Amino acid sequence: EQIRIFCPATVANISCGFDVLGLCLDTIGDEMIIRKTSRKGIHISKISGQSLPTDPHKNVAGVAAMAMLKNLNTDNGFEIEIQKNIKAGSGIGSSAASAAGAVYGINKLMGSPFGTSEMVAFAMEGEQLASGALHADNVAPALFGGFTLVRSYDPLDIVKIHCPGELAVAVIHPQIEVKTSDARAVLKKNIPLKSAIRQWGNLGGLISGLYTEDYELISRSLHDEIVEPHRSVLIPAFKELKEAAALNGALGSGISGSGPSVFALCKGEKTARKVADAMKKVYSKTGVAHELHISKIN
Ligand code: HSE
Repeated sequence: EQIRIFCPATVANISCGFDVLGLCLDTIGDEMIIRKTSRKGIHISKISGQSLPTDPHKNVAGVAAMAMLKNLNTDNGFEIEIQKNIKAGSGIGSSAASAAGAVYGINKLMGSPFGTSEMVAFAMEGEQLASGALHADNVAPALFGGFTLVRSYDPLDIVKIHCPGELAVAVIHPQIEVKTSDARAVLKKNIPLKSAIRQWGNLGGLISGLYTEDYELISRSLHDEIVEPHRSVLIPAFKELKEAAALNGALGSGISGSGPSVFALCKGEKTARKVADAMKKVYSKTGVAHELHISKIN
C-alpha cells in the first residue's frame, strides 16, 4: 500500500506575524511516496533533487514520521521516498514541506487516526531539527492549506483564516542559503513596547482585512519593524525589491519566513506576475541569480 503526496511550499510570518502567520503556495512543492511496510520503523529509501541525509534521525521527514509512529499502535513501518523541489534554506518552508508530507502520508495510510492539529504537532518536531526552534508557522499552512494563525503554542491552537479568493503571491528566491537557525540568532530577545503595539495593531488589521476582503486594510497592515530590520541585511537588494513591488501594485512585501526569499502579496495573479517581473529586473541589474514563484493561496 502506498500514497503519493504533493508537499506544498509555504510563506511564514507575512510581515507582522512572526512565528504565528503562514500561507500555503500551490505551484511549488516537493513530492513524496510513502509505503506501508512489514519492516518496522521509518526508512528513507531515496532522496532526489538535493543531497540530504537519509538517516531518519537526521532528516526532518524522518524525525516527524518517528514522532507520529511513536503514537501509533501498529506493527508496520513506513518507507519514504522524497523528490525535493524546494531548496533548503530558501525561506519557503523546505523542511516544513518534508515534515508535513511525512505525517500527512502516514496518517492517510493508517486510516486518518489523527486530526490536522495533531499532525502539526508531530511535524513541528521535524521542524525543530531544522531550525532549532519549535515553530509551526510553515507546517500549519502546509497541512491546513490557505492562511493559518498559530494562536498559541502551549497549548497548540491553530486557526485557519479566511483568505480572499483573489489574493496571490509573488516570491523571488535569491540563490543563496540562509539557515533558519542563523536567521533566528540575529533577533533581539526583547522588543520595545511601542514596537509591539504597532505590530499587534498591524496583525489585527491584517486578519480583519483578510476576513472583510478589504485590500486597502491588508495593504496598510503589511509592516514588520521587529524582525525585518535585523534580517533584511542578509538579503541582496532588499530595499530595491520592496520598492519595485510597491511601484508595481503589490499590497505589501517582506521577507518570506527566515529568508532569503522575498514575498509580495497582490490582488490578482496578473498583478503578482507584474510584481514578479519588476523584482526580477532588480536582480537582473544587480546580477543576483534567482528563481521566481507566482501562486494563488490554497
Ligand atoms: N517563523 C520562522 C522564522 C519561520 O521566521 O524563523 C522559518 O521559516
